[in-house]
Amino acid sequence: MQHYAKLLFPAYTGPRIARYFGGPWSMHLPFAYDLMREFMPSSFVELGVYKGESYFTFCQSAAENGVDVLCYGIDTWQGDPQTGFYGPAIGHDVATHNTQYATFSQLITATFEDAVKDFADGSIDLLHIDGAHRYADVKGDFESWCTKLSQRGIVLFHDVMVRDREFGVSRLWTEIAGVGQSFLFPFGHGLGVWSASVTRKGDCGQKDNNSGKRKRSFNTQLSHFRTPQRSFKQSPTTSPSSSTMLRKEIRRRKS
Ligand SMILES: C[S@@+](CC[C@H](N)C(=O)[O-])C[C@H]1O[C@@H](n2cnc3c(N)ncnc32)[C@H](O)[C@@H]1O
Repeated sequence: MQHYAKLLFPAYTGPRIARYFGGPWSMHLPFAYDLMREFMPSSFVELGVYKGESYFTFCQSAAENGVDVLCYGIDTWQGDPQTGFYGPAIGHDVATHNTQYATFSQLITATFEDAVKDFADGSIDLLHIDGAHRYADVKGDFESWCTKLSQRGIVLFHDVMVRDREFGVSRLWTEIAGVGQSFLFPFGHGLGVWSASVTRKGDCGQKDNNSGKRKRSFNTQLSHFRTPQRSFKQSPTTSPSSSTMLRKEIRRRKS
């Protein structure tokens, strides 16, 4: 706990995190803020938003640094075996908080499995996987979303260092992490940073005997990012026109 408190300590000189709860992700919030500003993804997707501590730090950085990005936060807002199951209040609070970022951020109330169909292959620059944490869960999330990564795609994995309560991110991490392809922050439950840009063999770097059965290719031309076409009734939506307006405003500020 004492580590989490450091972001509030007077000696801390990093970005002031607006959505701070001191949760398991909190040690990585300054990195999230800096990564958004420096990497400048065109598209960011988070699988597992919960209260939005990590998601809204990415959004805060995008807003404060004028990053021309579309952000998508996906969750059922019902919970899972590791997080625990919870009622609708958290989802409502997250939706309310999102209104300030509605020009570029869309919350999608769906399972990851359903939502993945609405994203074009090669369209995601930055993907954060933080849903259910058993090995089969995180492996399934990684495999089903990896074709969506752009050629410069980066994937963040949280809880790489957690090994109790059936957490299995560490096992997947040992399978996919390679020299020059990954970096691990061992503190704050472990945050893995994995780059698709050095993985061109179309298998997401995994030692997976079934990988040939899945269509994976990073060699295709980048597709244009496709705004999800379903209407997600419980979430504020980002219309294409508001995204266009935001892009124009960002260009105006840069010039
Ligand atoms: C560990 S929490 C996310 C923590 C969050 N990133 C943060 O900053 O604190 C995991 C979330 O993933 C969601 N989740 C788990 N599996 C899911 C699935 N298959 N589809 C949609 N949401 C899922 C849960 O509802 C839960 O809110």
